[in-house]
Amino acid sequence: MKHNVSTLPLLKQTAKWLLPRLQQGDLVFLIGDLGMGKTTFTQMLLHSAGVQESVKSPTYTLFESYQSKQLSFIHMDLYRLSHPEELYYLGIEDILNNDSIVLIEWPEKGQGVLPIPQWSLSFTGNNLNRSLTITSK
Ligand SMILES: Nc1ncnc2c1ncn2[C@@H]1O[C@H](COP(=O)(O)OP(=O)(O)OP(=O)(O)O)[C@@H](O)[C@H]1O
Ligand SMILES: [Mg+2]
Repeated sequence: MKHNVSTLPLLKQTAKWLLPRLQQGDLVFLIGDLGMGKTTFTQMLLHSAGVQESVKSPTYTLFESYQSKQLSFIHMDLYRLSHPEELYYLGIEDILNNDSIVLIEWPEKGQGVLPIPQWSLSFTGNNLNRSLTITSK
């Protein structure tokens, strides 16, 4: 499913489209170049789900956990990962097994360690014409 996300309101609308389709335990890959909107989309999704606290880019901490009334989320950014095997030191097995919705930016960096995701979100385009293609397993 290809969504037009050329503006922030359209991006938010797409986050609201995806939210009711997600289930606890789902793994979500966020794929796209620097600045394409992966973190912004995650912020919109989590705030739509009722997460109150601010959602910041986990580039330095690599992951952050969030809780709403009904759902729990883990947001990861693997940009700074040097080797996929470092995921084992981060406790990736526990992260994937704790029934949270796990959203991962730069999943390419974890290739070979990360399983096939339930959802793959691909951010493409340019400033004037951005698209978000959502595929599910
Ligand atoms: N669909 C959009 N429409 C308009 N502006 C957007 C859109 N998506 C993102 N932006 C803007 O682009 C900037 C960068 O977005 P963001 O940090 O979400 O990118 P990212 O994909 O997470 O990048 P990185 O790979 O560096 O983590 C933000 O200021 C955001 O407001
Ligand atoms: Mg980001």
